[in-house]
Amino acid sequence: MEHTMAAVAAAPIANRHWPEEGWTRVPFWVYTDEDLYQHELETFFYGPSWNYVALECEIPERGSYKRSWIGERQVVVVRGENDAIHVWENRCAHRGARVCWKNKGKEESFTCPYHQWNYALDGKLQGVPLKRGVLKKGGMPSDFDNSQHGLRPLSVHVEGGSIWASFSENPLPFAEYCGEDVIVNIRRQFPGKKLKLLGYNRQLIPGNWKLYFENLKDPYHATLLHSFLITFGLWRADTQSESIPGDSGHSVMVSRNVGRKKTDAAAEIARFKEALELHDLDTVTPRTEFEDGKVVAITHFPSVVIHQQANTFGMRHVIPKGTGSFELAWTFFGYEDDDDEMTRLRVRHANLYGPAGFVAMEDGEVLSESQLGAHHYGHRNAVVEMGGRDVEKQDHMVTEVLIRAFYKHYRKMMRI
Ligand SMILES: [Fe+2]
Repeated sequence: MEHTMAAVAAAPIANRHWPEEGWTRVPFWVYTDEDLYQHELETFFYGPSWNYVALECEIPERGSYKRSWIGERQVVVVRGENDAIHVWENRCAHRGARVCWKNKGKEESFTCPYHQWNYALDGKLQGVPLKRGVLKKGGMPSDFDNSQHGLRPLSVHVEGGSIWASFSENPLPFAEYCGEDVIVNIRRQFPGKKLKLLGYNRQLIPGNWKLYFENLKDPYHATLLHSFLITFGLWRADTQSESIPGDSGHSVMVSRNVGRKKTDAAAEIARFKEALELHDLDTVTPRTEFEDGKVVAITHFPSVVIHQQANTFGMRHVIPKGTGSFELAWTFFGYEDDDDEMTRLRVRHANLYGPAGFVAMEDGEVLSESQLGAHHYGHRNAVVEMGGRDVEKQDHMVTEVLIRAFYKHYRKMMRI
């Protein structure tokens, strides 16, 4: 079926052909091809997708703003009048210069540094210097209409304190874009309680941006690569789990904290380090928070991975920077009504993640390895057959089903 589709639609990447095996193979050129990358930006980030941009708690007051990214485009997220949240392109309507140069702050209005065109919090143009000219000379034509030259606004959706934006004027309703399994899990973590910002990490990973989504669609690696998770019982191959492919390229990966114990399954895994001890078990000792006992990682395509592990919550914003690099911007948060001990645990457990996290450090390293293995090997294919060749939900971790389901969606959207 995928082949038929590619045949009828004009293939945008005419010189590339997907391997005959279909979604059980990933050709390595998907990580290095420049034309493909430009088409990905247009198709996903600048298309009808909902993209994560910020948390409401980052812009608490009227005039508070955060600069953010959708693909390689900069946007600004602003709290305006009557608590309305606006997202607009950080790009002056006049000559395209960036209007906002800081990552965060608070302003009454925004003024472009080039010719001082001034914009209201909602992005509407409210002032053009020398609009009527000087000494009756120059200036804008008399019919120049400010209302036609504002900063380009994006569609905005707020879901339980998380802010999403779309370049489409008429995107699918957010819940529909997410699909049932994803929206249920987002609402589990964002039930409408006020959020509290706990901190940031940022890192540049020398790999293709899709590799990050694939990493979080790959429970198989988590049971093998991450000594810390395996040894201290935060994530193990023999725990009850689910791998749930979602709509629009999303997925949900569910596990459970099991505590430290050696089982037959764990003993098979080389990185289960029985002799490894921690003097302080705080980082691997979560307080029970969700009654369902689940640990959930949501890949929300194309912009973010949402994690809940131990007591840490994080948004991992994926910002592509060309074919071979992406920025990963981590935002750690909790709930405003957390007690002091819970806040302390959330911050402590954040040590698992970020550029030097006990767990995440290893992902940054292996993704750069995969990228190195893609360069000059466009004629080779990655094999993703673990857990079978289908794309249906599975109830175990020894699977690459989520990667297969992702490439099924990717090929349909990219017409490749
Ligand atoms: Fe990992």
